[in-house]
Amino acid sequence: MPYLEVKNIQKSFDGEKILDDVSFSLEEGETLAIIGRSGCGKTTLLRCLNYLESIDTGEVYLKGEKILDASYSKKRKKEDSFRRHFGLVFQSFNLFPQYTAKENILLPLSLQRKYRQKSGIMVDENSNLDEVVLGLLAKVGLEEKKDLYPSQLSGGQQQRVAIARAMALSPDVLCFDEPTSALDPELTGEVLKVIRELKEKTRLSMILVTHEMAFAHDVSDKILFMKGGKAIELGAPEEVFASKKEETIAFLSGYRHSNPSE
Ligand SMILES: Nc1ncnc2c1ncn2[C@@H]1O[C@H](COP(=O)(O)OP(=O)(O)O)[C@@H](O)[C@H]1O
Ligand SMILES: [Mg+2]
Repeated sequence: MPYLEVKNIQKSFDGEKILDDVSFSLEEGETLAIIGRSGCGKTTLLRCLNYLESIDTGEVYLKGEKILDASYSKKRKKEDSFRRHFGLVFQSFNLFPQYTAKENILLPLSLQRKYRQKSGIMVDENSNLDEVVLGLLAKVGLEEKKDLYPSQLSGGQQQRVAIARAMALSPDVLCFDEPTSALDPELTGEVLKVIRELKEKTRLSMILVTHEMAFAHDVSDKILFMKGGKAIELGAPEEVFASKKEETIAFLSGYRHSNPSE
């Protein structure tokens, strides 16, 4: 039984099929990279997994338990936002500008604790949220920046805070939507380094939408290539990069010259 199983997801907007029967699976601790041209449905797929969009058909299983289907997402309950099967790191960081780095991470944690107390769910009162936050900041190498506001941080540092925040509620799968595409090239490396360290040092399972082909090749266990809402290829990086399929060759050839590190 796979850790995460995404089965036959379909999603239309205004009668247009945006996700067309997408399926994949992931083992615990694995990283899946999703690649494909702009508009092929990558963000929509992540938004569906994160309960930000409903799906029309299909199912998602985590450790054998069904966590999403078409009926489910239409009657999404508040408690689901605290079950946090998935976490999402957005392209544009989305930090709260009026809060410091530390407060940005503390906020979801204290909301979760309040919610749990109200619902009578066991809370470990002894766990010190400040310490949890500092531990998360250390994981992304930003302990000394804890009291700075987003406007006082570089884009790369802001994105690292956003990664720590997404990890705060201990999601089973952490998703990244083009985490470096809003960054200057010299800041991209520090964010990729954090993702690589998470991959190497934790057992976190990750789904990473990226245009950084060399990085996708290096860090992922599986690659999903999408085109027009369809999963065209799903396989080990070396298989996908050596694919003989016309669409895959055409897509990848656009990167060969613009990506000197490959
Ligand atoms: N809320 C929405 N309403 C209507 N169309 C949407 C919506 N969200 C995305 N789309 C359309 O779905 C397609 C896929 O978008 P998206 O998932 O953002 O692609 P990608 O992330 O691969 O660039 C695009 O044609 C986009 O315009
Ligand atoms: Mg997108």
